[in-house]
Amino acid sequence: MAIDLRAALQEALAADYVLEDELPRGGMSRVFLAVERALKRRVVLKVLDPELAAALSAERFKREITLAARLQHPHIVPLLHAGALNGMLYYSMPFVEGESLRELMGRERPMSIDRITQILLEVAGALDFAHAQGVVHRDIKPENVMLFHGQAVVLDFGIAKAVSDATAPVSTNSMPRLTLQGTSLGTPTYIAPEQAAGDPSLDHRADIYSVGCVAYEMLTGHPPFRGKSPQAVMIAHAKEAPEPITKRRPDTPSPLAKLVMACLEKDPERRPQRAAQLVKVLRPAHETGGLKGAFERAPWWLPWVLAGVSSAAALGLALSR
Ligand SMILES: Nc1ncnc2c1ncn2[C@@H]1O[C@H](COP(=O)(O)OP(=O)(O)OP(=O)(O)O)[C@@H](O)[C@H]1O
Ligand SMILES: [Mg+2]
Repeated sequence: MAIDLRAALQEALAADYVLEDELPRGGMSRVFLAVERALKRRVVLKVLDPELAAALSAERFKREITLAARLQHPHIVPLLHAGALNGMLYYSMPFVEGESLRELMGRERPMSIDRITQILLEVAGALDFAHAQGVVHRDIKPENVMLFHGQAVVLDFGIAKAVSDATAPVSTNSMPRLTLQGTSLGTPTYIAPEQAAGDPSLDHRADIYSVGCVAYEMLTGHPPFRGKSPQAVMIAHAKEAPEPITKRRPDTPSPLAKLVMACLEKDPERRPQRAAQLVKVLRPAHETGGLKGAFERAPWWLPWVLAGVSSAAALGLALSR
């Protein structure tokens, strides 16, 4: 008989938390709103799927979680607590009162270039910071980005690594296990080709690919690859060229389109090598107002032409008098 996870969790954590509503579940865990008794604040408690938890090494899970817990950044949702109780692996984080990027994309179609630039800039800033601390996200997707008072914050840093490290090694055939007894261990829509291939040496550039997929979807309304099965999507990541963004969204400023297409390179060596490179391109565009700013700065000769036109007009006016 399936255990009543909610009751088991409430019993195990009764001294510290009061469980409230359950949120729609994601891939790896069940998600509960809860009130932390000591500080009377609302938190989100995530408890890993019991079958997944049973296959994990709690020690290795804890090691990765501990790394992720060190991240303190304005665009990263921090971990508050993590633990193992009665065979359950759980962690808590602040409840972000806002909507996910998935919800925002459903509501704002198409999203404005300025908005996309801002969100990308903030996510890239969070990634750059985490990468510098040796933490790779591995599961960048619209569900793991939330909008809090208009600002993008990234959720679940390090969880995918904690889970994949703590499970048995990936099998030798090139297709990784995407599911463990029905539990999704990755999101093929946003997964880098090397991650899809189960490459054990994958690094932070896998996140740069995923952020490229998210950017592509914000711009065009669709991710770069879709398919009938997770396997078909993973093969497309490895083998197919994404359709150029400017074909699907012609008003995309060319530097932005180029940046996103570069993130989607199959070979990590050909992508921007650091999230800081994304920040460098995006920040001036965001600060000067996107389209009107650095992406589409007026050509240097324009003031001269305008000055010429206006003096010719003044001259014409004077002559006509
Ligand atoms: N800290 C939080 N504050 C508010 N809502 C959250 C928080 N964490 C998660 N959610 C919401 O709960 C949903 C489920 O989260 P969860 O992280 O389990 O799933 P996911 O992101 O879809 O998949 P994955 O397991 O791969 O991270 C998310 O779509 C998100 O909108
Ligand atoms: Mg998540």
